[in-house]
Amino acid sequence: MSSITLIGTGNMARTIGTLAVAGGNTVEVMGRDRSKADDLAKALGGGASTGDWGAVPVGSIVVTALLYDGVVPVVTEYGDALAGKVVVDISNPFNAAFDGLAHSGQTSIAQEAAKVAPAGASVVKAFNTIFRDVLEKGRPDVFVAGDDAQAKASVAAFIESLGLRPLDVGGLRMAHWLEGMGVVTVGLAGNGVGHGNFALGADELTG
Ligand SMILES: NC(=O)c1ccc[n+]([C@@H]2O[C@H](COP(=O)([O-])OP(=O)(O)OC[C@H]3O[C@@H](n4cnc5c(N)ncnc54)[C@H](OP(=O)(O)O)[C@@H]3O)[C@@H](O)[C@H]2O)c1
Repeated sequence: MSSITLIGTGNMARTIGTLAVAGGNTVEVMGRDRSKADDLAKALGGGASTGDWGAVPVGSIVVTALLYDGVVPVVTEYGDALAGKVVVDISNPFNAAFDGLAHSGQTSIAQEAAKVAPAGASVVKAFNTIFRDVLEKGRPDVFVAGDDAQAKASVAAFIESLGLRPLDVGGLRMAHWLEGMGVVTVGLAGNGVGHGNFALGADELTG
């Protein structure tokens, strides 16, 4: 089982935290509003604890469950506190119309976070293509991108502990395309599928 720290106390932190506790993982919650972190840790149960904002996280895996524009500033603010950690960016940097990315160029929030992360930290992109309630109720594939094989293996083990299937899409450069998949997912929800009760996945064909 894994030891994880959630930075952020919103919807995704609650959902990933709930699955993590159910999967037998150790969970710590950090929020810029300590009372929200305390409330979430209490609600998660399973011995979930609260850590001081900016302190060295207890978890070897640190999930930045933050709005996209908070990820790089918070990784910067934590600085050396994240040394040696696997940092999992789950964000979707949607533009205002939800039909493109908020950043220009072939980058991603995960790649930008990697630029400011301390030496020895590894950034992995995961979970961004899945709507929160699908994570709660479904068994979707979880696409994972990152440059460090060991870091990806630890995130994959964590994802498996949640009862979900990790699928490695390649190096951290692929985080850009995972963010694009987030846009496609929203497009499908608003158009062809018409609702949010689905997830993109990989169907392997036999024969
Ligand atoms: N919801 C989904 O279905 C879904 C699915 C896939 C991926 N995601 C991604 O997951 C991330 C979190 O989404 P969510 O639904 O959990 O959002 P949320 O409920 O609005 O929670 C956002 C959290 O980020 C914190 N935060 C925002 N900006 C911050 C900053 N500059 N510094 C420190 N903390 C900051 C908020 O703290 P305060 O409470 O103090 O404001 C809150 O704890 C987003 O990037 C989103 O794109 C969401």
